[in-house]
Amino acid sequence: MLLDTYGRVATDLRVSLTDRCNLRCTYCMPEEGLQWLAKPKLLTDDEIVRLIQVAVTGLGIEEVRFTGGEPLLRPGLPGIIERCARLSPRPKISLTTNGIGLERTAHALHAAGLDRINVSLDTLRPEVFQQLTRRKRHADVLRGLAAGRAAGLTPVKVNTVLMPGLNDDEAPDLLAWAMEHGYELRFIEQMPLDAQHGWHREGMITAGDILTSLRSRFTLTPEGEEERGSAPAERWIIDGGPHRVGVIASVTRPFCSACDRTRLTADGQVRTCLFATEESDLRGALRDGASDEEIMALWKRAMWGKKAGAGIDDPSFVQPDRPMSAIGG
Ligand SMILES: C[S@@+](CC[C@H](N)C(=O)[O-])C[C@H]1O[C@@H](n2cnc3c(N)ncnc32)[C@H](O)[C@@H]1O
Repeated sequence: MLLDTYGRVATDLRVSLTDRCNLRCTYCMPEEGLQWLAKPKLLTDDEIVRLIQVAVTGLGIEEVRFTGGEPLLRPGLPGIIERCARLSPRPKISLTTNGIGLERTAHALHAAGLDRINVSLDTLRPEVFQQLTRRKRHADVLRGLAAGRAAGLTPVKVNTVLMPGLNDDEAPDLLAWAMEHGYELRFIEQMPLDAQHGWHREGMITAGDILTSLRSRFTLTPEGEEERGSAPAERWIIDGGPHRVGVIASVTRPFCSACDRTRLTADGQVRTCLFATEESDLRGALRDGASDEEIMALWKRAMWGKKAGAGIDDPSFVQPDRPMSAIGG
């Protein structure tokens, strides 16, 4: 198993399939100029499946989440999912996506073995979407969401980042919309992981701000710690239930002590945390002919060195060199 020195066990693997994306969210990427990973550095489909197989059959990974960049841009995605779904024990398989193109692929991905999706959507206003993402694709995302739900990729979760002066007035509207459409909304605090290093603590919308805004329209009752388990989102019951809303306070109330994650970048590096400054090279080992046992030993050693916390609140905090899009969000 993937144990660290604080007694945490990683059972949840995030796999980035590409660092490329078809949106340019202002809190994630610059409009242009971001250097993509060179193709030879990217893991092939076979290499990805091999590493997931090692993690699932040998290291106790129970859930695999594909992300990126935008994972729907990876041509081999259905095949990768299909091969992961055949592993024994079969992991839970989910996808974090911006939803563009899901309208066409949702059924096939579900048939391949995808269990559920998280779709990122920050606004209900097409013009704000264009400002935030620098692309006119709002309607595509809405259609992707509906297609995901219709295909049975449920529960469909919606991830929202609020940005000051752009969409920070939309929290109650987004929640009402999500409840009406049967999506589970989760707000994520903006983190210092943008390629252009434009994050400022003073400007960010905090979990406290989000809850105050939601309480202007809804009654929120906190869900117990037991229901939360190792999930990063704190959840609230809305107006007595049955709907819930989640808030991931990654900056103001990080939940590192119960973290159960390990990460694999699109170029085959293990990361213990989004904010880790070190990586362990599995691609090199794989291409040098490492056995499953050798890969397991490298992965275990990497996780053993996992830090207690992300350290954003520590004065010595340094933003990792790689942006979210290259790590896999
Ligand atoms: C990096 S994206 C990758 C997957 C996919 N392209 C998507 O849009 O969901 C994963 C999630 O990270 C979020 N994200 C990106 N940069 C962020 C930041 N600086 N702070 C908080 N969340 C961020 C996005 O909003 C999205 O919900």
